[in-house]
Amino acid sequence: MDVQKAISEMTLEEKASLLSGSDFWHTKSVERLGVESCMVSDGPHGLRKQNQKADHLGIRESIKAVCFPTGCATASSFDRELLKTLGEAIGDSCQHEKLSVVLGPAVNIKRSPLCGRNFEYFSEDPYLAGEAAANFIQGVQSRGVGTSIKHFACNNQEYRRLSSNSVVDERTLREIYLPAFETAVKQAKPWTVMCSYNLINGTYACENRWLLTDVLRLEWGFDGYVMSDWGAVDDRVASVEAGLDLEMPSAGGETDRLVVQAVREGRLDERLVDLSCERILNVNQRYQNNARPDTLWDKQAQHELARRIAAECMVLLKNDGGLLPLKVGRRIAVIGAFAKKPRFQGGGSSHINADQVTGAWEEFSKLADVSYSEGYTIDSDEPNELLLAEAEVTAGAAEIAVIFAGLPDRYESEGYDRKHMRMPACQERLIRRVAAVNPNTVVVLHNGAPIEMPWIDDVTAVLEAYLGGQAVGGATADVLLGRVNPSGRLAETFPLRLEDTATFPWYGGEKVNVEYREGVFVGYRYYDAKRTPVLFPFGFGLSYTDFQYAHLILSASEIADTGTLTVSVEVTNVGKRAGKEVVQLYVADRESTVVRPVRELKGFAKVALESGETKTVSFTLGNRAFAYWNEKLHDWHVETGAFGIQIGKSSRDIVLEEDVNVLSTVSLPNRVTLNSIFEDLLADPEKAEILRPILDLYQSNMRRPAPDKEDSVSITDDMMRAMIAYTPLRSMMNFTKGQITYRQLVEAVEKMNHIEKPESGR
Ligand code: BGC
Repeated sequence: MDVQKAISEMTLEEKASLLSGSDFWHTKSVERLGVESCMVSDGPHGLRKQNQKADHLGIRESIKAVCFPTGCATASSFDRELLKTLGEAIGDSCQHEKLSVVLGPAVNIKRSPLCGRNFEYFSEDPYLAGEAAANFIQGVQSRGVGTSIKHFACNNQEYRRLSSNSVVDERTLREIYLPAFETAVKQAKPWTVMCSYNLINGTYACENRWLLTDVLRLEWGFDGYVMSDWGAVDDRVASVEAGLDLEMPSAGGETDRLVVQAVREGRLDERLVDLSCERILNVNQRYQNNARPDTLWDKQAQHELARRIAAECMVLLKNDGGLLPLKVGRRIAVIGAFAKKPRFQGGGSSHINADQVTGAWEEFSKLADVSYSEGYTIDSDEPNELLLAEAEVTAGAAEIAVIFAGLPDRYESEGYDRKHMRMPACQERLIRRVAAVNPNTVVVLHNGAPIEMPWIDDVTAVLEAYLGGQAVGGATADVLLGRVNPSGRLAETFPLRLEDTATFPWYGGEKVNVEYREGVFVGYRYYDAKRTPVLFPFGFGLSYTDFQYAHLILSASEIADTGTLTVSVEVTNVGKRAGKEVVQLYVADRESTVVRPVRELKGFAKVALESGETKTVSFTLGNRAFAYWNEKLHDWHVETGAFGIQIGKSSRDIVLEEDVNVLSTVSLPNRVTLNSIFEDLLADPEKAEILRPILDLYQSNMRRPAPDKEDSVSITDDMMRAMIAYTPLRSMMNFTKGQITYRQLVEAVEKMNHIEKPESGR
């Protein structure tokens, strides 16, 4: 189909009709011109395809599908290839089910552990979230179907999510909340973007021209279509103008009529309507050209893949004395309702009608000498004395007790936020009671976001299994029994207490306005700056083997901000088993004129190493690895100076570091005025030279004893200079009773502004 020709033959009504869905999941058709409708479906970690009655909350029936691990888990893999593989599998199922676009990945930053939808999101770190998203998208789209990266942007809470206004400064937007989208758009070219419900700085995301056109299309080069989140559109005409192409779901033609009317009354340029039609039809056509409905959807094979992926994502948080992996033949008590009925996904639009679910007990029951006790009921928070006592007996009779615990469905879901970070009281009590009778207690956690662990010192080992998809049970057994060596690392910090989180005083906002007052200090950026003790830091995770690092080598000791730096480091598996290490590279700006995080993740690589094996891992860092967003330039900017290149096992465990000096090639607008202060001016030798006569005059003036007094305090030149450091030029008139004249100062200002050499940027 010639898209442009088809559009040129459409009536205004037909064109406007294409700008909204025909129902909950389909775009519209124009039969007389051969324009076919296409279907989209949730995502992101499997398909929620609804055949008949539709909803956006995951309540009504959808087809049987494979539920893969959720975003909180897959990001913890720190494994780009794994995310690509996951995307490919989802792409295949989309082809089989004739879906043009899967609604995901969901990449919003985890601003607070409380957000009900954190289980679907990747990370508190924008670099990691962007890399995860880009690889997932590449995987899906390699199969000839599209993705819809969501929710663009600043949709970081569920509380009042359809009407809240995220108040975020420009730098924080650019450094924290937009980069995951930016990376994905630039690297992986998603076919569509879904814009979020909320407002950003007073404008609905759906009506935000700056966001949807200036940034997304003109800056980042996005060439697909933008669709609204379900029911997110406020003013349809304004949203067309802003660059929102497709309104979802159908509004029964009501809003199409508003578009027609606006064009007829000259309030909306018809060319914008044409453009949106073109973008939607181009994507639909791309799908149709690549449609392969005969693609096999082998659910059993995907179940096995889901198991493999889940095992790669789990994070071993504690393993005192190397209790894990469990040795076969030991008497093991498996405790907790989640062992039989695991919590493997979250509630809401991503809720999948899982084709099959395996609990860990299924695997454990195959072993000799294992017992089971329920411990708690999933539906209640209240401790049940009978179940607790039973669990104590089971645990007491075993060598090792493995408790399956975590958060029940009602605790976290799309649509609402958590109010606290605790586990149900019955589960906390169970852990304490079991640990009291069995010194070898292991806790396996099924949760979509960090929890407080007041019982952590009572237990020997903790495995974070997250919401690991329908095959989580088998995968958990694989890790506990050592068939898989755990290699997940936390994609988010686990604080000790909710009160320690950066957003604690203001998360959720004041009904409408949600002020992002913590700025760029999100997650580890905050805890590390404050040196707050945490339960488990960002990037943390243990293995059944050990890794050592050596030979951190930088390709240069100095680079320009236009150049690149190659970093290499050797990592060796010094333990007895094969395993995988996540090499993390952080960049630390050593001194800066702006307030910056202590360190930021700018590279990672997952490496598989046999016992005794060494590999060299290399990273290439460009301008962005060193830059912050400068609000005056409205651009990224690198300051001249030293930057630490840090290799860490987590944001709190830096094992090797070397400095590089980066030279800025960009001048900052930096005009001298009478209000400029001496500290800033004297930092530049040429300006210092111009100011010398003024300073001399000032100093000799200050040294002259007052007529009626002896000079009582002796002041050195250095003290004098230190004391005037924060003084503006203009004050010289006052401090010398006019001996330094206004004219003299103005001339000095002019001279300083005429120095030709470019500013160093500092
Ligand atoms: C969610 C989206 C989802 C859509 C369709 C909305 O409520 O925020 O993530 O894709 O519903 O189900």
